[in-house]
Amino acid sequence: RLPKPFNEANLHYAQSSPERKGLEEALKKLRSQLPVSVPSIRNGKEVASSGSDQLSQHMPAEHANVLAKYTAATKEDVSAVIEAALKAKQEWADMPFFDRAAIFLRAAELVSSKYRFEIMAATMLGQGKNAWQAEIDAAAELADFYRFNVSFAQDIYDRQPTINAPGHAGRTDWRPLEGFVYAISPFNFTAIGGNLISGPALMGNTVVWKPSPSSVYASHLVYKILLEAGLPPNVIQIVNGDAEMITQTVFDHPRFAALNFTGSSDVFRHLYHKAAEGVASKKYGDFPRMVAETSGKNFHLIHSSADVSNAVKHTMRASFEYSGQKCSACSRVYLAKSQADAFLTELKQHMSETKMGDPEDFKNFLGPVINRPAFDRVTKIIKTANEDSRLERIAGGNYDDSKGYYIEPTAYVSNTLDHHLFDQELFGPVLIIYVYEDAEFESLLAKIDAQGGGFALTGSIFANDPQAIRKAENQLRYAAGNFYTNCKTTGAVIGQQSFGGARGSGTNDKAGSADSLRRFTSPRTLKEEF
Ligand code: ALA
Repeated sequence: RLPKPFNEANLHYAQSSPERKGLEEALKKLRSQLPVSVPSIRNGKEVASSGSDQLSQHMPAEHANVLAKYTAATKEDVSAVIEAALKAKQEWADMPFFDRAAIFLRAAELVSSKYRFEIMAATMLGQGKNAWQAEIDAAAELADFYRFNVSFAQDIYDRQPTINAPGHAGRTDWRPLEGFVYAISPFNFTAIGGNLISGPALMGNTVVWKPSPSSVYASHLVYKILLEAGLPPNVIQIVNGDAEMITQTVFDHPRFAALNFTGSSDVFRHLYHKAAEGVASKKYGDFPRMVAETSGKNFHLIHSSADVSNAVKHTMRASFEYSGQKCSACSRVYLAKSQADAFLTELKQHMSETKMGDPEDFKNFLGPVINRPAFDRVTKIIKTANEDSRLERIAGGNYDDSKGYYIEPTAYVSNTLDHHLFDQELFGPVLIIYVYEDAEFESLLAKIDAQGGGFALTGSIFANDPQAIRKAENQLRYAAGNFYTNCKTTGAVIGQQSFGGARGSGTNDKAGSADSLRRFTSPRTLKEEF
């Protein structure tokens, strides 16, 4: 039998702990190698980067410095990668599931032990995470995805007919899809890349993977670890470079079978449209599966019965950890008037004490945002909000891009619910708060449901009144794919809370569940009479 999955224990990085020492050494080593050269890997072999088509991944905390140099794939490269994926498919699909699973279980062990600090260092310097954020992502969640996806895959293979009539033998043949899978991963979680490729691969598919340009190096390490764990060449292949060209080449291929995407809703809409054109013109052998987890406008609802200190603590973490750049980050708060003074006083206190700066410095709670476009977008929102007479800024509002892309945690109280910041995804350390009359709680639920820009990823209620909790749970049924009580909108744990949004937040196939793996199969029902 396969081993039972378990959650990787989080290390704490206390001063003088062995893990802090290990991580510091890994950071030092990586710094001594900068810029690292990321080779393309074709047919299992490294192809050295070539001169003119080199691209760079910069460090968000020191944007003048390059973390990694890598080669942009040409259109011919992408086509060759697709053909190699199709060629590798049969042998991979024929490999006994136990052997496929063993590769990912071995990779989980390598992430957990041998490469933990190396991949965390890549995530810290490349994606601007501090040690704890890198730990829960590139160490724990990545290993969790591999271990739990193995068990989810087993669950699917175990789904077989409930009964057979006398003289009949029936079974379900959980075939992989007939073509290849295209995975596009975001910068904000190294682990998400690991999930987007491992789910389809465990079900016997081969995968072409386009990581975000802001997480090229960490994604390369994810891949190298899988190769060391025994992944055969071309089962998963990375292509970097011009996103539009790569995607067009993939979507033009008749054997494009599925997209596994995490990123913004707007990009997903564009991809969906492209795929739909291919479907309409009968370009593909199948109807490609479109699986996506996208944007959010996630909320905390603070009821008059809430434990205020708990609500503040969770709001701080959900809104400002990793500078609000988790898809699950909270960016709107609805606050009961009877709790407002206490909540806002405590929130302001926490925000003024929060340390921002170099992610490698263990005292910092948050670091930079990811890149220039993110900095420009979020600071524009702040500039406009600072001038808006309907908004009172209660903390933050400053920014500085002289060395890295730093934006202070910033919060506004709005005197109206009718404000676009209750609908606009911010993806930065900015929070908007509305204070409601306690007696309006029930009518507010309908408004919360109607707001949020059509997104429905995560939401939380903070309350001790069980009736308020039940009412919110019922009336906000479609307002969040993940709805939590007395805890923050971020931090779903694989195997405990499957993750995904409804409405404009994606296809809600739930990362961290068998259901998302099921999408990468084309089951065949077999019956034999004897
Ligand atoms: N697991 C991540 C979270 O819930 C996406 O914040």
